[in-house]
Amino acid sequence: MDLERILNLNQFEAHAREQMEPYAFAYYCGGAGDEITMRRNLDAWNRFSLRPRVFVDISSVDISSSMLGTPVSMPVGFAPTALHKLAHPDGELASARATGEAGALICLSTLSTYSIEEVAKAGGGPRWFQVYVHKDRELAIELVQRAVASGYSGIVVTADLPAPGYREREFAHGLTVPEDASPANFPNTATEEEFNDYLDHLHDRSLTWDDLSWMREAAGEVPVLVKGLLTEEDAILANEHGADGIIVSNHGGRQLDRSPAPIDVLEEIVQAAGECEVFLDGGVRRGIDVVTALALGAKGVFVGRPLLYALAAGGEEGVGRALELLRAEIENAMTLLGVTRVDEITRAHVGPN
Ligand code: FNR
Ligand code: LAC
Repeated sequence: MDLERILNLNQFEAHAREQMEPYAFAYYCGGAGDEITMRRNLDAWNRFSLRPRVFVDISSVDISSSMLGTPVSMPVGFAPTALHKLAHPDGELASARATGEAGALICLSTLSTYSIEEVAKAGGGPRWFQVYVHKDRELAIELVQRAVASGYSGIVVTADLPAPGYREREFAHGLTVPEDASPANFPNTATEEEFNDYLDHLHDRSLTWDDLSWMREAAGEVPVLVKGLLTEEDAILANEHGADGIIVSNHGGRQLDRSPAPIDVLEEIVQAAGECEVFLDGGVRRGIDVVTALALGAKGVFVGRPLLYALAAGGEEGVGRALELLRAEIENAMTLLGVTRVDEITRAHVGPN
């Protein structure tokens, strides 16, 4: 397909739907319950307006930044997402190469279909690792240590999946994980049954805030983030328990339906988060979404589905095209907003109307 004809992130979805097996597309695209939260994630941005400043010298605009000490060419990362081989045989290798090439961050999922080490070798760019805690805690510690040893510069602990959400598209299609697309980081998730068993039974539902301490120890000097917070109460607790960062997220609307859109709670979380750097994911599709999140206090954002769809549509080149589009949109948004650097974007650039 001619990737040049794709002009924005939303346009990858239709191509992905054509390329992918229906069950795999249903797994990617679905949300929980009536998908109210999933739609909210897209709609919420429109309630904000941008306040452009004029006659600012914007002859050079620099969108590079740093996300918890990791230098990035733009304040955008590929959100941790399971099973990239369902989109393309090159899976996370293609995703890591494309993000690396663009200088953007990739956060590898625990449930990746190429291993922590394989992805580290392929990518070379900035990368974090997302950890799901297995009932066998030694296994979780091992995953974190492997990631640190392979040069991942952030550990993201996902907090909003004590159990999978009520995802009817998955129930209807069944999530069949073919053996050649099974998670690569564990020994026991090779078959479909084992994968579902992992999420239903092997995933540790007993985690509490106190568990952050052993994860921080396993991560050593590498910063630890908590992903999946939506309230100021939890932001306070994350800060108190020594998290270095927070990713405000409702898991792309895949967990608790009717939970709020991250952009609607971002500010209250930034205000409660103390020393933590705050990031956001969910419904980020446009450069103007990115600058809105930055204006409300995020240090960067993550994108999930559109990059998965881009991977399905064109492998490494597809993800590369998506990042190129996003980069151009962010540059354009900053130019028209009258800011030349990411850290010049302030609360005053966003208004209610
Ligand atoms: C996810 N997400 C996710 N999160 C996580 O911490 N670990 C994971 O393994 C996965 N897996 C996963 C698979 C798929 C198919 C999707 C769509 C999402 C959630 C992800 O990190 C992120 O929160 C959302 O995707 C962001 O919303 P958008 O950009 O998809 O709207
Ligand atoms: C998902 C899990 C695996 O959202 O994070 O499918």
